[in-house]
Amino acid sequence: MLAVIGAMAEEVALLKADLVVGRTERHAGIDVIHGYYQGVELVLAQCGIGKVNAAICAQMLIDRYEPRSLIFSGVAGGLLPNMRVGDIVIASNVVQYDMDLTAFGRRHGELPGRDRMIESDPALVQAAADAFDAAFEGVENGPNLMLGTVASGDKFVQDKDTLRWLQREFAAFATEMEGAAVGHTCSLNDVPFVVIRGLSDTAGASASSDFAANLAMVCRNCFDLLEKLIPVVGHLPVEVETDPAATTAKPN
Ligand code: ADE
Repeated sequence: MLAVIGAMAEEVALLKADLVVGRTERHAGIDVIHGYYQGVELVLAQCGIGKVNAAICAQMLIDRYEPRSLIFSGVAGGLLPNMRVGDIVIASNVVQYDMDLTAFGRRHGELPGRDRMIESDPALVQAAADAFDAAFEGVENGPNLMLGTVASGDKFVQDKDTLRWLQREFAAFATEMEGAAVGHTCSLNDVPFVVIRGLSDTAGASASSDFAANLAMVCRNCFDLLEKLIPVVGHLPVEVETDPAATTAKPN
C-alpha cells in the first residue's frame, strides 16, 4: 500500500480521476480515497494547506493504512534565478524554515534531537528522477528537473528578501507549505517518503498571480511524473530491517 498526498484539490485531481476507486473514508476531516492505479494499491488524500494539516494527514494515513511509502506531490515557488514555471524539483531534503529556536543558539529549522535537514528516501528520490526521465525525455520544451532542498513554512512567499534568505540560509531550491511537515512525520514513523514539486511561480512579487495562472499546467507535469513513478514504487522490494545483533559479521 502506497500513500499519496496533495494539499489542494488541483494537486490530487488528475490522479483521483484515473483511480480505480474502492472506497472513500473520512478521518480527521480528510477524505481518504482507497483505490488502485495501474494495479498498485494506494490511498490518496488532499490534506489542505500548511504544515499542521500536512502533519495531521500524514500521521493519520500512517496509523490507519500503514503505507510502505508516502509520496507528496504538488506545486512550489522556485528560488533559483534560471528556474522556469513547470520545472520540477524532487526534494532530496526538506526543512521547516520557520522553526526558530535561534534564541537558544540553534540554527533556523533545527529541533532538539532531530536533523535540521530531513532526508527523503534515496531510493524514492532515484525512482522519481527516473520517472521524470521516462515522462519527459525528448519532449520539446519539456520541464527541467532539479534535485535539492525544499524549504517549507506557513507562508506563501512573494518577496525577494525571503526568497534570498531561503536560498542562502538553507541552500533551498524551492519553497512550499507542507513538505517538511510530511517529512518530519514520516521520519518519526520510519516511513520512507519523497516530495515532488512542480514550480508554479518564482516566489517574487508576481507569485500569487503566477500561481493561479499556472496551477493546472504544473499539476499536469507532476501527474505525468507520478504516472511513471507509482507503478515502479508499487513494486519496489520492501526493505527488510536486519537486527545487527543477529549477524555474525564484524567490522575490522
Ligand atoms: N506554493 C507555490 N508557490 C509558493 C510560494 N511562492 N510560497 C509558498 N508556497 C508556494
